[in-house]
Amino acid sequence: MKITIVGTGYVGLVTGACFSEVGHQVLCVDKDERKVNMLRANKMPIYEPGLDEVVARNVAAGRLRFSTSLAEGTEYAEVIFIAVGTPPGVEGQADLSYVEQVVREVAEHMSSYRLLVEKSTVPVNTAEQIKRTVLRYSRKDVAFDVASNPEFLREGTAIEDALQPDRVVVGVESERASQLLRAIYEPIIARGGGVFVEMGIASAELTKHASNSFLAMKISYINAVSRICELAGADVEQVANGMGLDRRIGRQFLKAGVGYGGSCFPKDVDAFVHLADQLGYDFDLLKNVRQINEAQRDHVMQKIRHELWVIQDKTVAILGLAFKPCTDDVREAASLYFVPRLREAGAMLRLWDPVATDNFKALYPDLAYFTDIEACVRDADLVLILTEWSQIADFGLERLRSLMKCPVVVDGRNMFDPKEMRAKGFAYHCVGRP
Ligand SMILES: NC(=O)c1ccc[n+]([C@@H]2O[C@H](COP(=O)([O-])OP(=O)(O)OC[C@H]3O[C@@H](n4cnc5c(N)ncnc54)[C@H](O)[C@@H]3O)[C@@H](O)[C@H]2O)c1
Repeated sequence: MKITIVGTGYVGLVTGACFSEVGHQVLCVDKDERKVNMLRANKMPIYEPGLDEVVARNVAAGRLRFSTSLAEGTEYAEVIFIAVGTPPGVEGQADLSYVEQVVREVAEHMSSYRLLVEKSTVPVNTAEQIKRTVLRYSRKDVAFDVASNPEFLREGTAIEDALQPDRVVVGVESERASQLLRAIYEPIIARGGGVFVEMGIASAELTKHASNSFLAMKISYINAVSRICELAGADVEQVANGMGLDRRIGRQFLKAGVGYGGSCFPKDVDAFVHLADQLGYDFDLLKNVRQINEAQRDHVMQKIRHELWVIQDKTVAILGLAFKPCTDDVREAASLYFVPRLREAGAMLRLWDPVATDNFKALYPDLAYFTDIEACVRDADLVLILTEWSQIADFGLERLRSLMKCPVVVDGRNMFDPKEMRAKGFAYHCVGRP
């Protein structure tokens, strides 16, 4: 089938590449000329493991193309996925201006039936606004449908998630839209890619917000438990293990640390709180999720202050700038909390990340960046771990200790065993463990 994807970011590019991988003809449209030119030159604008191979293979096979023209994208395919950004607005609500702009342009160029699919994360009832906008801006009396197909992929494992999703959630209100989306996902489901779940559009829209907020809640829950563990002399890793082995609870996302970040959880929790508020429900539970997440960062900052006493002129090596491993995405990453605070307090910062440095440098160009851990931690008064990259675990504790001025490690991701760290001579501060 022919498919147009609008927005070639983390979601749009992966979705487009994976649709072409299962045999569809895909045109990816983005207004960012630099991105499109990079993709046409077979260069990836983002870091996502395995993406370059899937893109190269399908471009070579003639199934995947890139364009900056939404007129061309509208003409190209009956089904148009909208995968543009929905960043947080001023009051926490999702900023839908990119979505609206795409819908308006598609409406202006439509000359026969089109199915507009919301792939971006949008508030419930956005489909109604999309319908109104199409009716208002289309120049011809053309039939169309709107559907919701929220995306659940995780950066770092996005290809696997897109080709083998647990479920494909689709919100439709016409048989035609249902059949088109079933045909698109049929090859993915046939490969063993989970369950195709069809529902009403509002329910599909809500499923995305409810899912992400639930996962954020799980992280905040275990972080709250980690604070009690610290006070009670218990070990949160052991507690999480004991809890997570219960299949009703599950081990995933019960990982205490410096809190959640990234382009989705913080903004989606905010948007859900805002949405609930607008609908007349005070979502106190989620407000607490957010507050616990913020407090967790402050709590780790306290550990640094406590250990260094005076931060001024201390050398602090930060390992990990991305919001999680295997991605170059730094949106709402913990590093964006700690770097300005430590800098303001007068620390001399040395930063390392294997893939996210360029994105971070765009925000903080004048800091000291290192391409290897060895150079980064040399003569440091304190090492702060913010992303659980495997390179940090593999680096070697003896080696780390011999390079640092003072062997002090604040580990925001609980990567090491506290007993072993102490035995190796480190002052080691982690989260929720004695
Ligand atoms: N990143 C994730 O892990 C993830 C997972 C699930 C859902 N989502 C949701 O998917 C959506 C996209 O997220 P992302 O991380 O891929 O965003 P992104 O910022 O990486 O990419 C968005 C792209 O849309 C393009 N764009 C904006 N306006 C456009 C227009 N008018 N015409 C053409 N292109 C346009 C931008 O140039 C950019 O390349 C968001 O709603 C997000 O919440 C993201």
